[in-house]
Amino acid sequence: MKADIDFLRGAASLLATLPFFVLASAVATAENRPHPGRSADALVADFESETWGEWKSSGEAFGSGPAEGTLPGQMQVSGYRGKRLVNSFYKGDGTTGTLSSPAFRIERRYLNFLIGGGGYAGETCMNLVIDGKVVRTATGPNTRPGGSEALDWHSWDVSELEGRTASLEIVDRRTGGWGHINVDHIVQSDRRLQAEPAARELVIAQRYLHLPVKNGAAKRRMKFVVDDRTVREFDIELADDQPDFLVFSDVAAFSGRTLRIEVDRLPADSMGLDSIRQSDELPAADTLYRERHRPQFHFTSRRGWLNDPNGLVYHDGEWHLFYQHNPYGIEWGNMHWGHAVSRDLVHWRELPVALYPQRYGDWCFSGSGLIDERNTSGLGNGGRPPLIVAYTSTGRGEAIAFSHDRGRTFAEIDENPVVRHRGRDPKIIWHPPTERWVMAVYDEADDRQSIAFYASPDLKSWQYASRIDGFFECPDLFELPVDGDPQAMRWVLYAADGKYVLGRFDGREFHAGGERHTLWHGNFYAAQTFSNAPGGRRIQIGWGRGITFPGMPFNQQMTVPVELALRTTDAGVRMFAEPVPEIGEVRHKTHSWRNLTGRSTLDGIGSELLDIEARFEVDRSACGLVIHGVPVMYDPAKRELTCHRITAPLEPAGGRIDLRILVDRGSLEIFGNRGRVALSVGLLPPEDRRGVAIVAVEGTSLESLTIHELRSAWTAFPAAAESEHGNH
Ligand code: FRU
Repeated sequence: MKADIDFLRGAASLLATLPFFVLASAVATAENRPHPGRSADALVADFESETWGEWKSSGEAFGSGPAEGTLPGQMQVSGYRGKRLVNSFYKGDGTTGTLSSPAFRIERRYLNFLIGGGGYAGETCMNLVIDGKVVRTATGPNTRPGGSEALDWHSWDVSELEGRTASLEIVDRRTGGWGHINVDHIVQSDRRLQAEPAARELVIAQRYLHLPVKNGAAKRRMKFVVDDRTVREFDIELADDQPDFLVFSDVAAFSGRTLRIEVDRLPADSMGLDSIRQSDELPAADTLYRERHRPQFHFTSRRGWLNDPNGLVYHDGEWHLFYQHNPYGIEWGNMHWGHAVSRDLVHWRELPVALYPQRYGDWCFSGSGLIDERNTSGLGNGGRPPLIVAYTSTGRGEAIAFSHDRGRTFAEIDENPVVRHRGRDPKIIWHPPTERWVMAVYDEADDRQSIAFYASPDLKSWQYASRIDGFFECPDLFELPVDGDPQAMRWVLYAADGKYVLGRFDGREFHAGGERHTLWHGNFYAAQTFSNAPGGRRIQIGWGRGITFPGMPFNQQMTVPVELALRTTDAGVRMFAEPVPEIGEVRHKTHSWRNLTGRSTLDGIGSELLDIEARFEVDRSACGLVIHGVPVMYDPAKRELTCHRITAPLEPAGGRIDLRILVDRGSLEIFGNRGRVALSVGLLPPEDRRGVAIVAVEGTSLESLTIHELRSAWTAFPAAAESEHGNH
């Protein structure tokens, strides 16, 4: 009796310490728990040795032994156990062969194995053979370009074959795309390991769900279901055991409700569902923005992937930066609109996701933001203009959404989609002379690549006006004065590559006045300018495409906000880009020098974050600076500015070259001659080589040099102070 009471007490206190959701999930995973009547698993092969051992290989495809992971030319292989696996991509997809096991006795209910690669029955497969006959067969999952090299569990129920002698044959008879097969860890077991649908219910008591991610793991489709309605659905590389990092989903909207998490396929021994936690804090909140490679004054998302800046608009004292965002992984996918705001373009505060896809596969692609001052749309609220965004809903067309609470929440208009065509990325501007809204939008009709123009009085009904060929995705269109003269306005049109053309625009058609010019070089794409900026400022932010941060839970960054201007040069009118003066907000220590020559290392520049202004008087020899070990050089013979393989043409102005260089963790941005050219250079400078050195040889002199050490811009908004509706 006493024993029973102790047991009950023990159980009760155990229950008290278990979070509610662990209990709720017990049902879903009871099947997977060790079973008293089961025998231990019996390994058939783990392919961890260098040779095939007792397995026999014929043909070339399997090489001389198990492969050490990914082979040359192959997408990254993941999901295998240990160091090696069977991988028939040896010498590529062109080779063929078979790999046969020694005979073994079937002595458990299931034969479990990891399999990946080509999905061709009989051609890229593993067969179970008894008495010369194939009694079971399985393939990898891929038959189309793209796909994934992740291996996943497969299980054969072999209960009726127990006691029989069998062998396995792994077959690669296929050449061309996905003409290979990957296999690992073949094990006999009384447990089925094959990934099966799984689910778990929990009552939402805290703001975030933390989800474990393992880069390269098999992608699972995850759904959140509340009251039988799917409220979220996305792909996630769910970690079955140790995660690389945690992502989060804001579930405040479902507080107090039962939320069911469904996963399309989960291996039986996966901890992926069980380890999902509720929290009021962000994952690793105490180190947020202080992670080793986190840029300190360029915008990055707290978690996940970002690409294009979207919906850039100034409103009520806030600069809004929406952006293409995968909240659930560090690669492109699951397109949502992330959101951040700033009062000075330097300190950003990330807010909750602004636009969620309406359903899986209907992603929120790029678009723009505006303030409908005149309430032409009728979407205003008690005399206050609405903040409106236009975006591509990939399943529907160009869509409009509006907000009455400073961009914190959005509602769709009933008229969506407002434009249906083959294309994406609507940029909407107000055109005063015609009193119409104009949508410049990427268009692929007739297999041409163009920017199409539509016009509308109310943002709801749109009429096609014209198109201009030869532009690819993410257009922007605006007017700028030449040399600051409001009487001399020119229109600027560019698409994702940033190459701009100057011309005239009458509200219907763009008339190009010449060639396209390049201002930005390097890691720069899909830039957009703010609408409604005070004082007629034209401020641009681009996606620093390709700037990555190894081992971090986030990926890609925005480029620094720049102010655009048209200025007359010897070559004609050109667009210039200079960092916004607000960068000055994070300067904290300034050093200046004049008339330096030769090669020297400057003392006392310890800071990792720098804002450098240098003026070189150029002669015939190269000059530049070496910053944290990274050369930024000007070659007067070639008239080129170069950093880390990124080169921009630059003519000296009055015999001089002016450089402005912003140095952050993960990137350098270089502006030549007051922004005549701009370079965005993604790189991680060696961490043990902090400092600045001058290279100015033979007659070239550094007329003046000013180095501002910068502070982190994240300090103004400690992670803990983040709140949904802002705290200003
Ligand atoms: C450009 C782009 C856009 C698209 C978005 C999707 O980088 O391809 O055309 O809307 O990214 O994320």
